[in-house]
Amino acid sequence: MAALEVRIPNIGGFQDVGVIDVLVKPGDAVKVDDPLVTLESDKATMDVPSPAAGTVREVRVQVGSRVSEGSLVVILEAAEAAPARAAAPPQPAASRSPAPAPPAAPPVTAPAAPAALPPTGAAAQAPPLASPPSPASLATGASPPAAGKAGPDRRVLHASPSVRRFARELGVDLSQVAGSGPRGRILREDVQGFVKQVMSGTAAVGAGGGAGLDLLPWPRIDFARFGPVEARPLSRIRKIAGANLARNWVMIPHVTQFEEADVTELESFRTRLNGENGGPGVKVTLLAFLVKACVAALKRFPELNASLDGDSLVLKRYFHIGFAADTPNGLVVPVVREADRKGVVEIARELAELAARAREGKLAAADLQGGSFSISSLGGIGGTAFTPIINAPEVAILGVSRTSTRPVWDGGQFAPRLMLPLSLSYDHRVVDGALAARFTTHLARLLADPWRMVL
Ligand code: COA
Repeated sequence: MAALEVRIPNIGGFQDVGVIDVLVKPGDAVKVDDPLVTLESDKATMDVPSPAAGTVREVRVQVGSRVSEGSLVVILEAAEAAPARAAAPPQPAASRSPAPAPPAAPPVTAPAAPAALPPTGAAAQAPPLASPPSPASLATGASPPAAGKAGPDRRVLHASPSVRRFARELGVDLSQVAGSGPRGRILREDVQGFVKQVMSGTAAVGAGGGAGLDLLPWPRIDFARFGPVEARPLSRIRKIAGANLARNWVMIPHVTQFEEADVTELESFRTRLNGENGGPGVKVTLLAFLVKACVAALKRFPELNASLDGDSLVLKRYFHIGFAADTPNGLVVPVVREADRKGVVEIARELAELAARAREGKLAAADLQGGSFSISSLGGIGGTAFTPIINAPEVAILGVSRTSTRPVWDGGQFAPRLMLPLSLSYDHRVVDGALAARFTTHLARLLADPWRMVL
């Protein structure tokens, strides 16, 4: 075995280029052209390939080192059977220089905001590199150029040639992978993580193959061309809620089951209760009764108090009920914990307290966590029905609209009854239509005859 010093080859005159990834360690066996380290200049990302097969004896750089042509990178014990050839120029990955793409370059850009990507943070924040692929003169290795056209609606993906090769070997479309490296760079671990997610069924597989959403980019329109406009930045809550709603809407097959509950008796009882001298000390709301009724119905139909986890349905033996609260900054869903152990008055007190804190922006993270089922009530505002979006990883949400007094046939005559519209959205992967209809029918029965709730 001969010791072979692997030095930085001609990298187009760049000086003091940063090492952003060290891909080998002492003892690793490498083949010719295996990537040893990844460099990044302000123009390009490139792998330095091994000029020979052998075993890594020493690594002389680390992440953050600065190198130029001639810098020693690795000492290799070259295998005798595989004579070293002159070090190949590095393989570029991402360039900002405006050279045209080689014809065979596979596209590696993605829509700017792919709604169904697994939730990660880094990729979305990666500043796009507005450039076509690298100069053909540098593209000597097997790697394709890394950056495709970066039009205004596309994001350019950062990944070293070795990561691209790795992704190609596994058949992974890099535009589906969120990068966790600096500036959203896609690392080998990100590709591995993505494959794991796909295998476990938790990743949304993307466009093109029929398995995902092959969506057009979001339209970019200069609205000022059509009239006066005002741009208002979204609040933090709205941005977070929006991202969650979009994911839930896209990833969950929603169906909404509509029902009406006769709440004539319940409302007359509630009015009486609230009007009593020395009454409950808090306004007992319809929502508080709805929480109680939902708990009773969930006990009867536990599949709706559950979450999907891979191939299992996790049935929750606790009853933490979230309710949508409208705040000046957007929608939040605080949670009433252990609603099964609380009376309606206590629930009403907690709802009022949580709603007040929500409006003041004073909810703690714990107030928003652990929900097992949610209720969204628009009854105080109006409307006859709506289709609420499931608050994942829950599997169902109850929408409540405004009561109205209507003539209802009681078998002998029409009688004026106070009817409450209910809209149950459910995850059809978990809940069948028949189960949803049984749930809402049972819920309506409980609301029509509140005594049943305590049974
Ligand atoms: N039908 C008719 N009237 C209703 C009703 C219903 N289903 N639900 C409530 N009301 C009435 C109440 O009787 C009350 O009237 P009053 O002031 O004359 O007594 C009024 O509406 C307000 O109701 P209240 O019980 O005080 O509040 P609430 O429980 O309806 O609402 C929140 C509390 C937190 C849910 C509410 O403030 C809120 O934020 N709602 C919006 C939720 C939302 O945005 N959902 C959509 C998510 S996509």
